[in-house]
Amino acid sequence: MQVTMIGAGYVGLVSGACFADFGHHVTCIDKDAGRIAALRRGHIPIFEPGLVDLVETNTRQGRLEFAMEPTGIGDADAVFIAVGTPSRRGDGHADLTYIYGVVREIAPLLSPTAIVVTKSTVPIGTGDEIERILREERPDAEMQVVSNPEFLREGAAIYDFKHPDRIVVGSDDARARAVVAEVYRPLYLNAAPILNVSRRTAELIKYAANAFLATKITFINEIADLCECVGADVQDVARGMGLDNRIGAKFLHAGPGFGGSCLPKDTTALIKTAHDYGAQLRIVETVAAVNDQRKRAMARKVVAALDGSIRGRTIAVLGLTFKPNTDDTRDSPSIPLITALNDLGAVVRSYDPAGMEQAKPHLPNVIYCDSAYAAAEGADAVVIATEWEQFRALDLERLRRIMARPVIVDLRNIYRADEMQRANFRYLAVGRPDVEHSPTPPAANRQKSKRPAAVE
Ligand code: UGA
Repeated sequence: MQVTMIGAGYVGLVSGACFADFGHHVTCIDKDAGRIAALRRGHIPIFEPGLVDLVETNTRQGRLEFAMEPTGIGDADAVFIAVGTPSRRGDGHADLTYIYGVVREIAPLLSPTAIVVTKSTVPIGTGDEIERILREERPDAEMQVVSNPEFLREGAAIYDFKHPDRIVVGSDDARARAVVAEVYRPLYLNAAPILNVSRRTAELIKYAANAFLATKITFINEIADLCECVGADVQDVARGMGLDNRIGAKFLHAGPGFGGSCLPKDTTALIKTAHDYGAQLRIVETVAAVNDQRKRAMARKVVAALDGSIRGRTIAVLGLTFKPNTDDTRDSPSIPLITALNDLGAVVRSYDPAGMEQAKPHLPNVIYCDSAYAAAEGADAVVIATEWEQFRALDLERLRRIMARPVIVDLRNIYRADEMQRANFRYLAVGRPDVEHSPTPPAANRQKSKRPAAVE
């Protein structure tokens, strides 16, 4: 099939390369001349494991092309729109300028029976507006507008594309459904369920799914706070809950709060949509507010680890991206956390395997280092803010030798209390009992929880 992908950003590039890998002929269109030139040279402007090879193979085999102009779009069996929908400045609504701009531009070039598929995350009703614009520009044509939201996680996007839990197709038109099903046929043969729903329903499924994931994370984060008060272990609580199939084990990892380009933006946009329609989403509103406060509040944990003050202390923060395997620092918990540490008078050293350049404009008062150990040199505490693989097995002996004090604050719960006890670190995690450093030999240490007495 001939597929046109408008937008060679994160979603467009991953989806376009995967469609080409299925055997379709894909043209990715983007207005950014530098981006298209780089892609044609084989340079991938985003960090996503496996994407360089996928683009290279499919370009070499002639199935994937890049262009600035949508010439040839009239021959496409399906035209996907995957341009950005950032939060609009001031009110948090999704900004649809790019989407509507693209639709007006391509309208005269489309075949009269074109299938236009929206992959960008767009507010409910956007498909109706796209259809209205197309009818206005081409009153004679019989184009169809379909919503086909993506559920890709950064860092695992190619896997997610090729192994979807479901493919959501929002359209009431049988011809449009058949064309989109044909584009996804290789996955369909592998039994990925296609969910045919109305267009508005498809648009809402995307937001509802992200809002629910955000709710699950925020729920376990608050349970983690309670665990710290009562002396319970949130990882065991999460396991005990997650083994119930009705709940499920995923997205129950307590941490410093969710970040990234999707969950924060999409929860805010969903709340705005609900307000516009006079509906109430009080749970989602609370989730957004709780998560916003949580990131900066993580600095309190660092203050507690250093006995009440961090003024003049050196803190090493490991991880700047919102999660591992990405260079994306958008809404990363590390940013408000480090800002708070700076505000409290600490000197912050940091290392991230991929996100340091992106973080620099937001965090000018940080000493950027070229390894975790370089960051830890002379530090009074190491804070693990992102669970990169390379932070999971740090040489604790070496850390203790180079640090000013043996203190680790693990905001991602990637170490076990017993190993920290053996290495004789003071160790604070999220929703788990603290481990105290002891001047006596490690064997004599005891894991202690600083459990306050319950208020009777
Ligand atoms: C998210 C969704 O997971 C995808 O399904 C969706 O397609 C995507 O948004 C999107 O709308 O495009 P992503 O933003 O890449 O994907 O990241 P997630 O893996 O969902 O993680 C989001 C944040 O939640 C990260 O900061 C992560 O550290 C945090 N998180 C996640 C937790 O704190 N605990 C968890 O148990 C899971």
